[in-house]
Amino acid sequence: MDPAWLAAAVFLLLWQCAGCTRAGKEWTYAVEMPLPSWMGVAGLPWQYSAVQLHLHWGNGIGVATGSEHTIDGQGASAELHVVHYNSELFANMSQAKTQGNGLAVLGVLIEAGSETNHAYAQIFNYLGRIRYAGQRVAIPAFDVQTLLPRDLSRYFRYNGSLTTPPCYQSVLWTVFAEKVKISHYQLLKLETVLYSSRSTAPTEPIPMQDNYRATQPLNHRPVLSSFIPVSVKIYTDGEISAIVIGSLCGCIGLAVIVWFVVKTIRSTSSWDVLPSVRPPPQSRTKDVAKNLKQDMALKTTSDLGKKEEAAPQPEP
Ligand SMILES: *[C@@H]1O[C@H](CO)[C@@H](O)[C@H](O)[C@H]1NC(C)=O
Ligand SMILES: *[C@@H]1O[C@H](CO)[C@@H](O)[C@H](O)[C@H]1NC(C)=O
Repeated sequence: MDPAWLAAAVFLLLWQCAGCTRAGKEWTYAVEMPLPSWMGVAGLPWQYSAVQLHLHWGNGIGVATGSEHTIDGQGASAELHVVHYNSELFANMSQAKTQGNGLAVLGVLIEAGSETNHAYAQIFNYLGRIRYAGQRVAIPAFDVQTLLPRDLSRYFRYNGSLTTPPCYQSVLWTVFAEKVKISHYQLLKLETVLYSSRSTAPTEPIPMQDNYRATQPLNHRPVLSSFIPVSVKIYTDGEISAIVIGSLCGCIGLAVIVWFVVKTIRSTSSWDVLPSVRPPPQSRTKDVAKNLKQDMALKTTSDLGKKEEAAPQPEP
């Protein structure tokens, strides 16, 4: 990423998205901040210039709903998008957005934590001044990079689409693996302070919520990651039952072996007619105990081996 990401005088404004619907309800607005075209992203196949950033969020009811991407099936409460167009191939955003390789968007998943995020406060502090659709406010310049996660080296990348209609397949997505935390209060503010209706509207103001698009099928497209994801081994119910039953069988088997060993030793003792040749009983018991320990050690190791085999393969 270009380290010199400093926004000049910027505006926040609420933009309209014609034809954006979710669950049959039309949602029309999001909060957007235009960015100067000299901002860019490094490390992409072309030169991309920044256009704007905007946010998507939910309605405060579902904790992990509001983001447009999920990582390992896990969503987040909101998502920041920093939009760039391919300034090497196209004259402007409107030309680029309909073309393959036209846009590059950085996606940041946002979740709630205990601490106030001062970088995001630089936007959220002004939301109260643009509560109604179509309003705008000038805000002091700040370093846009502070909105991104600390670790920019771990990300997912894929060819996808715009998340707002007409959803052109023109976006090279970069979604960071590290999530950014804002406070619960900040999230609540984002979810409740804005309206998607105009201040002049005769009706009750309509809260601006759930302005995210549900995740779409991957359709076999590859998602590359800049790192090797550490996949957590999660056992399904079936696998857990298999492990429990396997362990039980192992224990019963072990008990049977122990019973046989003890029985064999006892019967050997009773056949022993020459008491002088008989070794002292303690050492025998010790031997048995030793054998048992070895048996158990062997059993445990093989059980572990079985568990390893039963474990699911990590996802690619
Ligand atoms: C974008 O560029 C095209 C081609 O140069 C031009 O026709 C169009 O008016 C431009 N659109 C805007 C919004 O600047
Ligand atoms: C995206 O598509 C282009 C071809 O248009 C291809 O060269 C590139 O490797 C693809 N990138 C990813 C991350 O799949």
